[in-house]
Amino acid sequence: MVYGEESRTRRAVTLSTLRGMRDRGEPIACLTAYDASFARRVDAAGVDLVLVGDSLGMVVQGHASTVPVNMDDMVYHTRLVARGLERAFLVADLPFLSYADPATALANSGRLMQQGGARMVKLEGTGAQAEIVAALAMNGIPVCAHLGLRPQAVEKMGGFRIQGRGEAAGEQMLADAHVLEQAGADLLLLECIPRHLAARIHAAVKVPVIGIGAGADVDGQILVLYDVLDITLGHKPRFAKNFMVGAPSIDAALRAYVQAVKTGEYPAVEHAFD
Ligand code: KIV
Repeated sequence: MVYGEESRTRRAVTLSTLRGMRDRGEPIACLTAYDASFARRVDAAGVDLVLVGDSLGMVVQGHASTVPVNMDDMVYHTRLVARGLERAFLVADLPFLSYADPATALANSGRLMQQGGARMVKLEGTGAQAEIVAALAMNGIPVCAHLGLRPQAVEKMGGFRIQGRGEAAGEQMLADAHVLEQAGADLLLLECIPRHLAARIHAAVKVPVIGIGAGADVDGQILVLYDVLDITLGHKPRFAKNFMVGAPSIDAALRAYVQAVKTGEYPAVEHAFD
C-alpha cells in the first residue's frame, strides 16, 4: 500500500519517536520554518521537529510582536511548510486569541491539522489553559504547551522578559507544568526561564520538554530559523546563536545547528539564564 506519508523514503518523526528520544536521552533538534523552501532544507539537515511559529509575525511580517498574527496566516504558512517536509514532525502555533475557549480552540486546531497539515498544535499557557488542553486532547489533537515567556502575553508581561525568577514564580510554573501535563499536553516548551527551573520542570514531568533560552537540562532545543541564519536585523536574544559564522552555506549552518544540539555543544552556559 503506497499512498501519502507512506510513500516517503525517510521514516517520519512521530510523537512516539519524540517520546522515545526523551527516554533514550537523545537530544531533539527543533527549528521554526515559515515556507516550503526553508522547510525542505531544515528537514534535509536532520531537524526532528519543525514549528510554524507565530514568530512569523515578527520575522516575516515585520510586526513588533506576535499579537497581530491571525488564523489565516497560520494556516497558510503551515500549509507551505508541510509541503517541504519529509521527515520532521510538524507543529503549528495557535495564534493570539485563537484558543480563548475550548470550542474556538477545537475549531482552530482542526484548521491547522486539516487545512495546514500540522501534526500537533502549540498554545501558550499556564494552568488556566488546562480546560482547553483537555478538550483538545479528548478530541485526539496533540498539544504542546508553551510556558515561561509567552510572547502573545507580551503586553501583559510588560515586555519580553525572563520568567520564573524567584521562588514563588518558579513554584507556580512548576505547578502549571504539572497541571498542563495532567490535562493532556504531550510536549512542553519552556521559553526564557532560569536553567535550574527548567531542569526541575524536566525532572517533574514525563513528556518531552523543549527549551529556548531554558538551558541544557531539557530534552531538546528550538530556535527561530532566522536567528540561526542571521537573517533578522536588530536585537538578538541572549540564547540565539548565529550558525552562519564559519559555515560555507545555509545547509552547512543548519547541519551545524543540528550537530550542536545533538552533541550538547548548544546551548552553552552563555546562552542560559541563572
Ligand atoms: O513562535 C515561535 O517561533 C515560538 C518559538 C520561539 C518557540 O514559539
